[in-house]
Amino acid sequence: MTETIHVSVAWPYANGDLHVGHLAGAYLPADIFARYQRLKGNRVLMVSGSDAHGTPITVTAEKLGISPREVFETNHRRFLETQQKIGISYDLFTHTDTENHYRVSQDFFLGLKKAGALYEETQALLFDEEANRFLPDRMVEGTCPHCGYDSARGDQCDNCGHLIDAVQLINPRSKQTGNKPIIRETTHYFLDLAKFKDQLHEYLSDKDYWRPNVIKFARNMVDDLRGRPITRDISWGIPVPLEGWEDKCLYVWFEAVIGYFSASIEWSKNNDQPEAWKDWWYNPDCKMYNFIGKDNIPFHTVIWQAELMGVSGIYNDDTGSLVLPYDVPANEYMNVQGAQFSKSRNWAVWLPDILERYDPDAIRYYVGAVLPETRDSDFTWEDFVARNNNELVAWWGNLVNRVLKFAYKNWDGIVPDPGELRPDDKALLEKIEAGFKTVGGLLDEVKLRRALEEAMSLAREVNVYLDGAPWFSVVKEDKQAAAMTVYTALQAITYLKTLLAPFLPFTAQQLHELLGFDGQVFGEQVIEEIEESTRNHGGLTYDGSAAIGTWEPVTLPPGQALKPPVALFKKLDEKTVIETETARLGN
Ligand code: MF3
Ligand code: ZN
Repeated sequence: MTETIHVSVAWPYANGDLHVGHLAGAYLPADIFARYQRLKGNRVLMVSGSDAHGTPITVTAEKLGISPREVFETNHRRFLETQQKIGISYDLFTHTDTENHYRVSQDFFLGLKKAGALYEETQALLFDEEANRFLPDRMVEGTCPHCGYDSARGDQCDNCGHLIDAVQLINPRSKQTGNKPIIRETTHYFLDLAKFKDQLHEYLSDKDYWRPNVIKFARNMVDDLRGRPITRDISWGIPVPLEGWEDKCLYVWFEAVIGYFSASIEWSKNNDQPEAWKDWWYNPDCKMYNFIGKDNIPFHTVIWQAELMGVSGIYNDDTGSLVLPYDVPANEYMNVQGAQFSKSRNWAVWLPDILERYDPDAIRYYVGAVLPETRDSDFTWEDFVARNNNELVAWWGNLVNRVLKFAYKNWDGIVPDPGELRPDDKALLEKIEAGFKTVGGLLDEVKLRRALEEAMSLAREVNVYLDGAPWFSVVKEDKQAAAMTVYTALQAITYLKTLLAPFLPFTAQQLHELLGFDGQVFGEQVIEEIEESTRNHGGLTYDGSAAIGTWEPVTLPPGQALKPPVALFKKLDEKTVIETETARLGN
């Protein structure tokens, strides 16, 4: 049965380049999962976009003396190119500065207000009189009221770990200007989370299949729900759509998550099927997966759900309920060479940079093999080289290369006809064929790292088989025996091509062609102008209409013409890589 799958991917702040932490935390897992679902023939909609708003972008803009929109636009363009190169197959990667997203977010706000899910409250906040604005919590520093540490942030003390209410800071000062703020009152709209307590409990009650840390966090949070302000005294953002509120904007987190919904609508419009988004959002059978990093858990397991519950019926005449996330596979962090990512220290592996030196599938393989699914993981260049050379090249690339070369040379570029296979040949093929169930099962459960391990262990089985089978030595005396071996290996490689395709889409396509198959395993990714809008900054789209790939053991027809073999992967020189990369890191 065809399933309907929504892949919602965290929206990166358009405030700097993408790095391997982003890739490992959300984009690669989402892409592997989406590609697998597409191969299965399921109906997939995968969306995300640049998060254009938020304090970090405003701060960068001020530092550079340009507008926040310019900061966003430059980075957004780079996101499109980077993600196209590494093959993240969004149906639509848009941004939160579109007219569509503004309107949908404002409609959400008004819908929640109408449903009684919002309330107004006056807060006392820190105000910078010289700069004439309220200070976001993380932009204030002062002495911690708990431990006396003198550089505690307005949201949290890094010394003792206590969460802080910025107005409690002793001797507060603006991080940007050093100004001493005063306390001033301001009124905001709050999302009345307590209202959704029962509904959220109910929603979480059957989510035991979530990753343990995710469900634990969500359930704890629901036990202690307080209202959260969803408007801010800022000017870069989506205006609050009410008279008298022109100076205030919707809080970035409130509207960014709405992007999953607004981007689905935008995708429908761009494809001339303006109602198509309803097949996901109003379809009780739709399974929605939300791929995020662990710092995003509160917003994606509780707050976004409350927004969806509260606004149910928006744009739908019969006021049906919107679909809530089915799973929220949050990932832990990926460190770099044993230390946490740091932009200021340049302790990061930047994707646009490494894509200039390494092939996308080599990067995807390594990051896929060490995904931080259950605990933090570590990106090290030693490990990158080791896994590339000793796994990807040794188990898979060399296997493909030597079998294809041998077949090409000895059977004039044609897949040999093996006749009736021997029991050992059949046993190997059965083993690899079973991978469609085992690897597929792990992918269905979003255990991607283990799925890749399983697929690679099957590739090793083929190596083991070849070590014991007659081929090189007998090709002269007993060509038919050699043909059986080579055919078996080619057929196994054909299966493995598909099993590995969600992880290694670029080389899967290459191999598909080398084996003599026509057509595309997946669709094409295109950067295009996405809609009629005065704020059209372009989007990345995926066109799967030409894709013929299927998650099935396809038979390799004897007699099929092979293409002249080329190597799929490159062995890396450890010394060169380490020297090049350590010179870049932290400098
Ligand atoms: N921009 C946020 C971050 O980078 C993530 C937002 S995810 C969204 O942490 F769904 F809220 F957009
Ligand atoms: Zn403290």
